[in-house]
Amino acid sequence: MLSTTLNKLSLWFSHHSAFSGYFEPVIQRVKPAWRQGLYRAQVLNVTKAIGDFVHITLQPQHQWKAHKAGQHIELTAELNGRLLTRIFTIASSPQQYAKDKTITLVIKTNELGRFTPQLADELTINSWVNISAAQGEFVFQPANKPLETPTVMIAGGSGITPMMSMLSEHLSTANNPMYLRYIAPLNEHQFVEPLALLAKEYPYFTFDLMTRSEHESQPLTLLAKSDVYCCGPQGLMFDIEALSKDTGANFYQEHFSLAPIVNDDSATKIDITVTLNGNAFTASNQQNLLIQLESQNAPVIRGCGIGVCHQCHCTKKSGLVKNLLTGDVSDSGEQIIQLCISKPLSDLEMSI
Ligand code: FES
Repeated sequence: MLSTTLNKLSLWFSHHSAFSGYFEPVIQRVKPAWRQGLYRAQVLNVTKAIGDFVHITLQPQHQWKAHKAGQHIELTAELNGRLLTRIFTIASSPQQYAKDKTITLVIKTNELGRFTPQLADELTINSWVNISAAQGEFVFQPANKPLETPTVMIAGGSGITPMMSMLSEHLSTANNPMYLRYIAPLNEHQFVEPLALLAKEYPYFTFDLMTRSEHESQPLTLLAKSDVYCCGPQGLMFDIEALSKDTGANFYQEHFSLAPIVNDDSATKIDITVTLNGNAFTASNQQNLLIQLESQNAPVIRGCGIGVCHQCHCTKKSGLVKNLLTGDVSDSGEQIIQLCISKPLSDLEMSI
């Protein structure tokens, strides 16, 4: 009851939804990167790898609960003074976490993105980031399978990460053949050595490293009742899902939400739905979010109205906005935005 009242007061008088969030800056003096509702994790290693990948080893605070192989986390880092969040699958196995309390992320850097290109340079050894609890349903389905129904994994690009976690975790107890087809540009395959070691240790595991054209010229054969795991570009997943359906295989896939198609032409009015703290408001791409939400009595906080005081901070969970001061268009992931200088470009989900 008391905490509910405090949280309500916090929402009225600050932009934090929980009272403890109000004290974040104070707590961060003794616990760097402490944020209400998230786990802290210390950066132990950052290595650049071939194909513009970066491998990051983190040590989560001890309250973090081990993941299941194939699950993902939200990684929040302060980059260039901005707090940004993205979703990444954990590439390491739960066995690694049990052994040394570390997890490894293997991230493809996107030259045009706002998050991944900065990771290798801005994350320093022993610095702190935040992570969420592990989540996701794309996990290995252990079952007694007859030898004639191999488990098949198809990974495209960074889609290798959940497969690597599952293989490291489950190969030692698998009771049927397992095959991995890993599709990536020439010389950009990750984990080549660990995969070779696994194949040596477990003779019933085989894998092929292929380029896209090799994959297209060597059609995959699936068998009915095989378990098929797929993670990669949308087109690849559509194709493998269709093939699985045709052959009667069990299809499992990992896919994160796709970026919505955006029209940044202000001359064309677009109707937009803004979901704020679970309540839907109507908006358009014609005005900043603060004005539009205030006019509908949404629980927003106003200060200067011109991007200076930061009172109108809000967490955008998904969707695209345009920063009216810089002209930058956000990506579709989670980040903190200022409502008074943000114009919506797509449906948004936000919280205060
Ligand atoms: S109201 Fe001051 S920055 Fe938005």
